[in-house]
Amino acid sequence: MELQFDRHRRLRHTKSLRNLVRETHLSVYDLIYPLFVTDGVNIHEQIPSMPGVYHLSLDQFELELESVVQLGIESVLLFGVPAHKDEVGTQAYHSEGIVQKATRMAKNKYPDLVVIADTCLCQYTDHGHCGVVQDGKVLNDPSLELLVKTAISQAEAGADIIAPSNMMDGFVAAIRQGLDQAGYDHIPIMSYAVKYASSFYGPFREAAHSTPQFGDRKTYQMDPATSREALREAHSDIAEGADILMVKPAMSYMDIIRQVKDTTNAPVAAYNVSGEYSMVKAAAEKGWIDEKSIVLEMLTSLKRAGADMILTYHAKDVAGWLKNY
Ligand code: PBG
Repeated sequence: MELQFDRHRRLRHTKSLRNLVRETHLSVYDLIYPLFVTDGVNIHEQIPSMPGVYHLSLDQFELELESVVQLGIESVLLFGVPAHKDEVGTQAYHSEGIVQKATRMAKNKYPDLVVIADTCLCQYTDHGHCGVVQDGKVLNDPSLELLVKTAISQAEAGADIIAPSNMMDGFVAAIRQGLDQAGYDHIPIMSYAVKYASSFYGPFREAAHSTPQFGDRKTYQMDPATSREALREAHSDIAEGADILMVKPAMSYMDIIRQVKDTTNAPVAAYNVSGEYSMVKAAAEKGWIDEKSIVLEMLTSLKRAGADMILTYHAKDVAGWLKNY
């Protein structure tokens, strides 16, 4: 009996044939590089669980930006690690806050660089929660006011995109209205629309000194076991005026990236978070994996899943690799 089957391998015979039929391409334009800026001078301190990622004082941040720009990276996301924290996160919305200063400096030196400001309170509050705390509870609406103040001060400093990450309900509506009223109706919002309460943020909290001092973030971030709720979050944020929707973390949530992509028409960002980075770095240090090919495969897979852009601590390495491809 003659066998009947398809010859799928025909298109895999050579590298050039494979390149020809490839559906997904990773480019330096897809990359957003997160950076941690801190008060002080001459600080260039590696985060122990995130090799290659540093706390940078403004002077060092300036040097770092030079290499980022040289590599062709066009977008950065700024996180502040302030010297002083208080109950209401004052340094988040101070005109001389660390992110505001870093934004002014970056835009002054590199006007074409897209500076994205993470808009949250947890690095700035002494309790480490992302909003206003009263009687052990994180309050929704009072937190919105502080977030709006933070977003406006970041826009004033020159931020090109506001990226609210605190997962209070209505944060996009509040920030959109606040920005519009302050004369920033041209500034887009990249909403951390679908943000799960994830253990993959562990190294970031060490990096940003933002571990909650009591409880956890499960009353505002999403339960990893849900997916339909992700679509409700995404659709609320679109209705409230979000310009870009983020899904976070990335790797364990590729099904969510795909669903958000298929059910909305906004650009989708995937945040390849700290724990995902640390796992790759640790295994690579041990010689257990090939870092370059693993990272390129991971980021390509995120694009295949539907991400239009990727926030990743691997950005500098990837930009270098893509140059020499
Ligand atoms: C702050 C914030 C977090 C991350 C980005 N913004 C931590 C958290 O929500 O606990 C995580 C980033 C990462 O893990 O790389 N709200």
